[in-house]
Order: sequence, then C-alpha cells, then structure tokens
Amino acid sequence: MDDIKHILSIDQFDRIGIEEIFKLSATLEKETNAGDYLQGKILATLFFEPSTRTRLSFEAAFIKLGGQILSVENAFDNSSNKKGEPASECAKTISNYADFIVFRHPEGNSASEVAKVANCPIINAGSGSSEHPTQAILDLYTIWKEKGQIDGLKICIIGDLKHARTINSLKKALANFDVELFELDNFSGDMHELPEGTIEKCDVIYMTRNQIERHGNVALNIKFALGHGHDLKLKEKAIVLHPLPRGYEIDPSFDADPRARYWAQVKNGIAVRQALILYLAGYIKL
Ligand code: CP
Repeated sequence: MDDIKHILSIDQFDRIGIEEIFKLSATLEKETNAGDYLQGKILATLFFEPSTRTRLSFEAAFIKLGGQILSVENAFDNSSNKKGEPASECAKTISNYADFIVFRHPEGNSASEVAKVANCPIINAGSGSSEHPTQAILDLYTIWKEKGQIDGLKICIIGDLKHARTINSLKKALANFDVELFELDNFSGDMHELPEGTIEKCDVIYMTRNQIERHGNVALNIKFALGHGHDLKLKEKAIVLHPLPRGYEIDPSFDADPRARYWAQVKNGIAVRQALILYLAGYIKL
C-alpha cells in the first residue's frame, strides 16, 4: 500500500513540517466551525494497550471535524485477535470500514507492519517502547505555545529513558531545533548526575512515569520528583510537562504550581491531532 500516507514515526517530520502542523493546530484551536472538514468520514481506533488521552483525543478531534468513530479498545480481548487473528489482519479488515485507523500495540514495529497491509492511513498511537509520534508533536506544540519558540531553550528530560516511547519520539523531534538537551534516568537504578545547578537553569522539564508494563520493576528508587516536599529546584519561569498518566514523580499537589503545564498539554492534544488528521486527509502538504 505504497501510495497511502501514514504517521508511523516522528522521523517523517522535518522542522518545516512540524511548524506547519503548529500553524494549523493554532488555527484549529480558534476555529468555531470546523465540523465540515470530515463529514462522511470514519476514524477507527484499534488499541491493544490501555489509553485515556490518545484514543479519546483522537476520537474527539475527529468528531469535532465532522466525522464519525469506530472504537476497539482492549483489542486483545475485544477483537478477533482473541481467536487468533493477527493484529495486522484485524487492522486490514477495519481498513475496509474506516478511512483512518489509529493503532496502539505493545510491539515496537507493530504500526509499520500494519501499514504494509491496510487500505487506509495508519496513525501510530504508541508502538511498544519505540515511538509515539503524535504525542511528540503535541509536546513540541505545547513548548512552542508556552515559550513562544523552541530554539534556544534548555530542556531536561527526567524519566524512564530506556522504556518511554514518548521520550524516544520527543528526542528525535527536538533534533530539528537548536536546543540544549539534558537527560536524567529516574528509574534505572544507575542514575547518573548532571552538573550542579543544571535543572535550575532549564526552561522545560519533561517528566515521565516508570514504564512498569515494559519491565515489571515497581521497586525502583525515584530520585527526582515534584510535590513531595523534597522537590527539584526549578527556574521561576520553567514549565513542567508530562505525557501522563503520572506516577510518584509528580504529586497532584504540584498541579497548583503555575509551572505545571501538563494539563494544558493534554488539552493541546485535540488541535494537534485534528491538524495531523487533516494532513493525512490532504488539506495541507508538508
Ligand atoms: N500520553 C498518553 O499516551 O496517554 P494515554 O496512554 O492515556 O493515551
């Protein structure tokens, strides 16, 4: 299915493409009458892993653009995968009923494999530890909106560096911009340190939870956290982002801090996913 456009990896997007998505997302955020774009179109979500934000924000985004939804969540149990049908054949089947498929699966190359057999665009909504490209674009969009630009920023990623697909995709996306990037593994057990005062100088702190579902280790010592009274010291104008769901690393009491911007990040998911769908539908070229 070589002539069908998909969103499988953040590698597909260069800086110009990412900035086009920002512009369209910003326009869509102000749009009060976007309900005509996708009338008569169907988006299917096929999720073999749990999700709150990605599945439902794609569905909300599509409905707001005038389209309709087919939804399979917990697809290991609720699709014919339970009867032995490969995930790729579930998706191939659904691609005869839907115009777009948003697909999440625990295997790293799953979305790419599905794209080889499906008759419609596949959007990778998270493939194992490897990629979560639409999350990365909404993370960048949030930084761009909050800070006015991405170039020149100091960004520190603190999380499960080996297993968080959001981090993998975000790091690749940030390579398109002139940023200073620092990384701290909060869950590896062999945490390395950054030079004294590094975090206090950062403009963006991006945290993730321990990806227990990838390695099963719940007992790791979490060194860097917010809202527990022994917090990281942050710059006054820093922003804190998190793809959510969160774990111990950000206590809900930190939500009242003006630097906590992860709930704004959640909200941005609608406009960014609308823009990405409209790109696949041919409304913009990247
Ligand atoms: N950020 C994210 O992927 O959240 P969900 O797992 O709830 O979709």
